Amino acid sequence: MTDSERELRARVAVAEKNIARVKKGAYRCKYHLLPPVGWLNDPNGLIKVNGLYHVFFQYAPESAEGEGLRGWGHYVSPDLVNWEYRGMAIYPDTPFDADGAYSGSCVADKNGFRIYYTGNVKHKDKNYDYVSDGRESNTILIRTEDGFNLDEKQVLLRTPDYPEEFTRHIRDPKVNITEEGYSMVLGGRLKGDKGAVLLYKSRDGFNFTLDKVVSTPDKFGFMWECPDRFTLDGLNVLSVSPQGVPHEKYAFQNVYASGCFIGDVKRENFREWDFGFDFYAPQTFWDGQRRILFGWAGMPDADYDNLPEVREGWQHSLTLPRVLTAKNGVIYQSPAEEVEKLRQREIPIDEDCACYELQITDISQGLKVILSDALKISFGKDECVCSFVSAAGRGRKTRRAAFSAEKAVIFMDVSVCEVYFNDGEKVFTTKLFPDSYSVKIYGNCKAKRFALGAYSVKITASEF
Ligand code: FRU
Repeated sequence: MTDSERELRARVAVAEKNIARVKKGAYRCKYHLLPPVGWLNDPNGLIKVNGLYHVFFQYAPESAEGEGLRGWGHYVSPDLVNWEYRGMAIYPDTPFDADGAYSGSCVADKNGFRIYYTGNVKHKDKNYDYVSDGRESNTILIRTEDGFNLDEKQVLLRTPDYPEEFTRHIRDPKVNITEEGYSMVLGGRLKGDKGAVLLYKSRDGFNFTLDKVVSTPDKFGFMWECPDRFTLDGLNVLSVSPQGVPHEKYAFQNVYASGCFIGDVKRENFREWDFGFDFYAPQTFWDGQRRILFGWAGMPDADYDNLPEVREGWQHSLTLPRVLTAKNGVIYQSPAEEVEKLRQREIPIDEDCACYELQITDISQGLKVILSDALKISFGKDECVCSFVSAAGRGRKTRRAAFSAEKAVIFMDVSVCEVYFNDGEKVFTTKLFPDSYSVKIYGNCKAKRFALGAYSVKITASEF
């Protein structure tokens, strides 16, 4: 081990000394994946191999606000409800990823699997703008047989290898196996500040050549992060998280957006994944049976905050695993059926219970549901409106979507809430910090409420 590798491991070990204290935080979620300590953002490297789900995530253990070193944390699970934290998997410990082992993906190969990610490097000696200069993003490969013992890092692409038309913002490789070998999609920012993706191909998964650059005919944001490409029941899907798309009444209400193009890459074909306050940078994978999406239940650079959990020494969670299906050209997201295993008992609507599933059917127009005297969900004829009516939203106000809901399932988990409308035709995710967990219903509907149990999560500090 080099001195730098040793130093970084020591720093993570120091940060993770706080695991026992952070675990006691009152706002810790019970059935969403959290950082053991510190900060979590994007889901990374989602894969199932040899019966084990690997969920890596962007992890900055030294600070709940994302400062300090950033690399990949690692959870594994045989069944999506029993989880084990297996430590920091990728440290930013080489000159190629010194300022962060950023987002990426995994693909299986005959000896195990391959991890592709972005090594972020920021030069510090001059006054750079960090858009057109002062930054490097290296595409790096790590092979592994079991996901725990990792081979050496191999740099596959460096800044001079990317096309001239791009700024220095290129990152987040998502690699897929194809009939001809491998395909890779990277997110980027063209000169002139237009978001785009770069498509690469490779026979062997080491040598990648540029196939094409894809963007919308007209500018749709200045940067596209965390791309993903897949087919779903015959639909060609390109998922991206675009930054800088102008706000509209019923769309792009957050500082940054996240959604997918279905079919041709043009604005009319873009559907947002979620209309809540806290959803970004999702990734999908095929687990042998179904396509599952995990998102980051968070929003960078928002004008609202999560201070109550930051004070507890941690911030953010992933979303529930969501199974994607398509019907008549529309993509539906529904919590993986494994989540049903968490159901404990039916409980009264007004009982104070911080982890629950609320099923609402037979909605009649004008229905209002108020969660924790804080979050009001209004079911209108042509729109659904979710708004905070108390300070528990920490600056979050109102989000709207243009559709009418016949039914909804609400998953409350202490400080995160996901609402699946019409079997997941629309989803709303938010953070919230209430001090009680009642439900109040005004209007007509049928409602059933279940107390939910916790994931079993084993967390032990990274090995050092
Ligand atoms: C998205 C993102 C990615 C980047 C990562 C760094 O949230 O900005 O583009 O790889 O986070 O943590």
